[in-house]
Amino acid sequence: MSKDKVYIFDTTLRDGEQVPGCKLDTKQKLVIAQRLDSLGVDVIEAGFPISSPGDFASVKEIARVVKNATVCGLTRSVKKDIEVAAEALQPAKRPRIHTGIGTSDSHIKYKFNSTREKIMERAVDAVKYAKSFVEDVEFYAEDAGRTENEFLARICEEVIKAGATVLNIPDTTGYCLPEEYGAKMKYLRENVRGIEKAILSCHCHNDLGLATANSISGVINGARQIECTINGIGERAGNTSLEEVVMILRQHPYLNLDTGINSKLLYSTSQMVSEKMGMPVQPNKAIVGSNAFAHSSGIHQDGVIKKRETYEIIDPHEVGVDHSSIVLTARSGRAALAYRAKKIGYELTKVQLDVVYEEFLRFADRKKEILDEDIHQIVESADVNIES
Ligand code: KIV
Ligand code: ZN
Repeated sequence: MSKDKVYIFDTTLRDGEQVPGCKLDTKQKLVIAQRLDSLGVDVIEAGFPISSPGDFASVKEIARVVKNATVCGLTRSVKKDIEVAAEALQPAKRPRIHTGIGTSDSHIKYKFNSTREKIMERAVDAVKYAKSFVEDVEFYAEDAGRTENEFLARICEEVIKAGATVLNIPDTTGYCLPEEYGAKMKYLRENVRGIEKAILSCHCHNDLGLATANSISGVINGARQIECTINGIGERAGNTSLEEVVMILRQHPYLNLDTGINSKLLYSTSQMVSEKMGMPVQPNKAIVGSNAFAHSSGIHQDGVIKKRETYEIIDPHEVGVDHSSIVLTARSGRAALAYRAKKIGYELTKVQLDVVYEEFLRFADRKKEILDEDIHQIVESADVNIES
C-alpha cells in the first residue's frame, strides 16, 4: 500500500531564527536554505519580510535561488505585511504567503482588545488579500492549542472559503497534551465544511517537551503537514524537531505515513545549522546528538557488539552518521574493552583480558572517558605480554 505523504514545512529560518543570539545574515540563510532544499523539505519558511530590511532581502534572495521547495513568507493579518511579503516572494517558483492572527480568547482579549467576530473578519480579509497575490495561502490560527474547538472550526471554514489552502493549527505555547492536540485535528477534520480542499498543518512548540509527540498525534489524526526546525530550535524551548518527526514516521511504517526527506543528510544538516547559529546540539538530542549512537554501559555494549539492533532502533548510516560508538567508561564491561582494544591492534586472550580489565577499571575510575591512547597505556601497565 502506498504511503500518505506528510509535507515537511521547515521554519528554521523564521521561527528557529527567533532564538536570541541565533540571528543569521543573508549569506548564511542562503546556504541553509539551499541545504534544506537538497534535504527535500517541501516548504521553506524563509522569514518575516516586513520585520526588517535584512529579512526582506533574505526572503527575496532565497526565493530567487531555491529550486524545488515552496518558499514561504510570514505576515500578520495586516495589508502592508502581505504586500511586502508578496514583493519579497516575487522571484519564487512556488511562493506561499503564511498569514494569520491569534484566535484564543486570551489573544483576542489581551493582545487585540477585540471580539471573535472582528478577528474572524480580519482573518478572512487577510486571506483574500494574500490570495490576490499568490495562489498558495496558508492561514495560521495563533494559539490554536488554547482556542475553543467550535470557534476554531468556524474560522477554519471561513478562511477556506476565502481561499486558504493550508490551515496551520499552532500550539503556540506548547500547552497541549498529545491526545488533546490529536483530538483537535480530528474535530477539525470532522466539523469543518470544505476541509477536503485544505491541508491541516501541525505547528507545535516544546514548552512541555511535547512538540514532537503532539505533531505525530496531529498527523495520526489527519494533519498532513508538520512545521518544524532543524535541531528543534526556536523560541523558548523550541519547535518540533525535523529530524525526530522524519525518523519517527520512517521507523513506524505501519502508520503508512512518510516524508520526502533524504534522511542521510540529517546529521550534516544539523551540524551545519548548529555551527552557523552558534547553538550547540545537546549530546543526548534524539537522532543527531553526539550520544545518539554511543553506548557506554557494559550491558548495552555487550548487546550491541553481538548484534547492533539489540540496543539501536536506527541504523546510524540512515541519518548520515558513520558508525555507532562504544564509549569506554568505568561502567563498561570486558566485551567493550576487548572490542576497542582489538580495533587498535590488541587481540587479548581471556586471561589477558581479565588482567587488562582490572587495570582498566582503576584507570577509568579516575577519568571520565577512556580513549585509544589510554588503552595503549593500560595494556602496557597491565604487562601481559601482548603483541600489538
Ligand atoms: O507559534 C506560532 O503560533 C507561530 C505562528 C506565527 C505561525 O509561529
Ligand atoms: Zn511558532
